Amino acid sequence: MRLGFIGTGVITAHIVRGLKASALADWPVIVSPRSAGVAAELALLPGVSVAQDNQSVIDGAEVVVLAVRPQIAAEVLAPLRFDPLCPVVSLMAGISLEDIARWTGARDLCRAIPLPSVEARTCVTPVYPPQPAAMQLFAALGQALGVEDLPGFDAYATGSAVMATWFGFAETVSGWMAENGIAEKDAETYVRGLFGNLGDTLRASSRPMEDLRHDHATKGGLNEQAFRVFGQEGGVDALRAGMNSVMSRVSGKA
Ligand SMILES: NC(=O)c1ccc[n+]([C@@H]2O[C@H](COP(=O)([O-])OP(=O)(O)OC[C@H]3O[C@@H](n4cnc5c(N)ncnc54)[C@H](OP(=O)(O)O)[C@@H]3O)[C@@H](O)[C@H]2O)c1
Repeated sequence: MRLGFIGTGVITAHIVRGLKASALADWPVIVSPRSAGVAAELALLPGVSVAQDNQSVIDGAEVVVLAVRPQIAAEVLAPLRFDPLCPVVSLMAGISLEDIARWTGARDLCRAIPLPSVEARTCVTPVYPPQPAAMQLFAALGQALGVEDLPGFDAYATGSAVMATWFGFAETVSGWMAENGIAEKDAETYVRGLFGNLGDTLRASSRPMEDLRHDHATKGGLNEQAFRVFGQEGGVDALRAGMNSVMSRVSGKA
């Protein structure tokens, strides 16, 4: 399957590198020429070429992936001529299928939320609706999750928006330790190990998350205390409020 990318930025680079190390490595890729540095670097991979312009990407592809920033989507896409039957996969956050259909005339459309971990082929990627080409692509880059309804897709988008909060959590823990007598570098080393190992545990386990929390909280111990006070002080509610606010935005209610 020949894949064409409109927008050769961060997420396209992760996908193409992941693809070329995957079971679909023989899929030819054609990328748009903007971000010449990234495009040239990707073109060093086997079967990757750089098109002359966006229209050439579309004309040369059997599946088109849209990966420009949402703010310029209309101005980039509207002048292009799409084959209405060519599958189109949009990665553009917050842009509806209806808008894309209006700008492109494409009829076989889906949205997906790949994250940088597609490059390591460990990403779980929601695809709405579960268009076969996109499901095949993202299955090769980890796991593809077919989503049948828009509220469900918006909830996945909201879940994907806690990444900075997770790093901010680690940063806060490390900063607190540094304020309490640990050398900054040592605090960071400790927290990288702590969070990294917990991430490994979470990925490897299929047990309920509540059980994992209990496993990491001795009755009457320090972890139990920290999570209890975190909840009492509004920590859990604050996280939920952040997610509610993102959900309102992605679902167009804010
Ligand atoms: N980053 C992620 O983890 C991630 C995850 C899921 C979805 N997304 C979505 O993917 C899209 C791209 O995100 P990104 O992080 O990859 O952004 P990015 O790094 O800024 O990439 C956007 C690319 O679009 C190019 N571009 C600008 N104008 C163009 C035009 N007229 N024609 C063709 N290409 C043009 C830019 O080129 P110049 O640099 O030359 O302007 C840049 O290479 C966004 O809609 C975002 O919501 C991103």
